[in-house]
Amino acid sequence: MIIRYLGHSSFHITIGNTRIIVDPFITPNSLAAHIDVKSLTADYILLTHGHGDHIADVESIAAQTGASIISNYEVVTYFENKGIKGHPMNHGGSWNFDFGRLKVTNAVHSSSFPDGSYAGNPCGFMLYTPEGNIYIAGDTALTMDMKLIPMFGSKPDIAILPIGSNFTMDADDAVIASDFIECNKIIGCHYDTFGYIKIDQETTINKFKSKGKELILLPIGESFTF
Ligand code: NI
Ligand code: MN
Repeated sequence: MIIRYLGHSSFHITIGNTRIIVDPFITPNSLAAHIDVKSLTADYILLTHGHGDHIADVESIAAQTGASIISNYEVVTYFENKGIKGHPMNHGGSWNFDFGRLKVTNAVHSSSFPDGSYAGNPCGFMLYTPEGNIYIAGDTALTMDMKLIPMFGSKPDIAILPIGSNFTMDADDAVIASDFIECNKIIGCHYDTFGYIKIDQETTINKFKSKGKELILLPIGESFTF
């Protein structure tokens, strides 16, 4: 599994021959100006919710790649009305895709599209793949529901958690979340993009280190091979 950070909460994940893009918000992100969106490949686009900082580049990436959206019913329907195909799901449901099994998990946040229309409820994803299990929390507060993640079956080997506070949980809560999900290898997201979510990276990494956990903060464009 190769996990490439595209900035904010956006990742390009390669599992076997399958390419997945999560929550693409690249062209509006000045920190990700060096990412060439036109060169991105994808078979699937995973969307955790409808907020603009998670869907900005969906239409252009879908047009250039022919990728299918995986999200909740409301988000998939919104993009189907724009001519983009998708697989509608909802919380608690799972489906066997060619990269493995994906389960839609709970997130505590809000969700609407930039035009104000209803985007259903925000979610996260748990992916069970031959190359390991990855939990993508989405925008969320710390929630007791995270204790369900390791109870679903195999535990996550790695997890992508928001750490920037203000709109999501902060690093202290993410440390607790990593206990709840029983996973000590965390990739941080949703930090530094805007003024509200600026963090001190060294302090944040040390919060995890002091609890025997690893927080990986990837430079935008860099990959982590798992
Ligand atoms: Ni959001
Ligand atoms: Mn967000």
